[in-house]
Amino acid sequence: MLEQLNNTFAIPDHVIFQTGAGDRPVAVLQNQYGQATISIYGGHVLTYTPNGQTPVLWVSKHAKYENGIAIRGGVPIIFPWFGSHPSDSTKPSHGFARRTDWHVQHTNQHANGSTEICLALTPTEFTQSLWAHDFVLQVTVILGAKLEIAMIWQNLSDTPMSVTNALHTYFAVADSTQVTIKGLENIPYLDQLAAMQRQQSAKPIQISAEVDRIYLESAAQIEIIDPGLARTIHITKQGSQSTVVWNPWIAKSARMSDFGDLEYREMVCVEAANIDDATVTLAPNDSHETRQIISVSPLNAG
Ligand code: BG6
Repeated sequence: MLEQLNNTFAIPDHVIFQTGAGDRPVAVLQNQYGQATISIYGGHVLTYTPNGQTPVLWVSKHAKYENGIAIRGGVPIIFPWFGSHPSDSTKPSHGFARRTDWHVQHTNQHANGSTEICLALTPTEFTQSLWAHDFVLQVTVILGAKLEIAMIWQNLSDTPMSVTNALHTYFAVADSTQVTIKGLENIPYLDQLAAMQRQQSAKPIQISAEVDRIYLESAAQIEIIDPGLARTIHITKQGSQSTVVWNPWIAKSARMSDFGDLEYREMVCVEAANIDDATVTLAPNDSHETRQIISVSPLNAG
């Protein structure tokens, strides 16, 4: 499989396919801007390291690389439902896209030195058993001065298709209790820890307990200010009305078998999503794109 991937899609000095964790194939993108690794399983960005930086994405040391199980960390692709299935709780949390093999569609190098890979998921027996729709879901990753990740899906059924989705990005931080997340002040959110009560706060977010919030109509730019790593992570997005902020804190970390007891200090999730009122309903043949754009600057440099 690796040989075939390299023969078809490798680009000298830009893209190579290697064996990653769990013996699974990964695409390694490398260029003048940095490095990113993408797992074919899940269409899942695992690492992003701009030159001169430490990794921007976080992956658990306890992540499981087994078929049918999502990888804990990086950028899981949440599709076609976010959280529990709306009517059948036996179906897997956050849908199926992060629990199955995808295929590579193309790779490219651009004139500005950036590198692109596109992966796709199309219906299989597994997806049909969970969701009887015909669709194509693509993830495009561009490694340039910023990292751009886009998930694009098209309704190939002859009936309307409703989807909730997320780019469920796990960001690496020096200490989650010391970071400040700016950009969601005064935006109403549903508190998943308080029966989806609608709340809002005028203050930037600081983590001192479990946080699990769905911010509504939140198209703003978000910053994760990390004094420990002396950097700010900048996150912008398109095609996403909701933003999820999640940190499991102590008790939930202990309950998750693929998450270390103290790892809640190393990460925070800021997810570009469409949930609740922002559910995306597509007529036959229509498509929708959710894009998250990530960059890093030294602290205080703006
Ligand atoms: C977040 C949800 O998006 O994902 C949380 O808001 C959930 O409620 C978290 O716990 C992780 O979900 P999972 O299925 O990967 O354990």
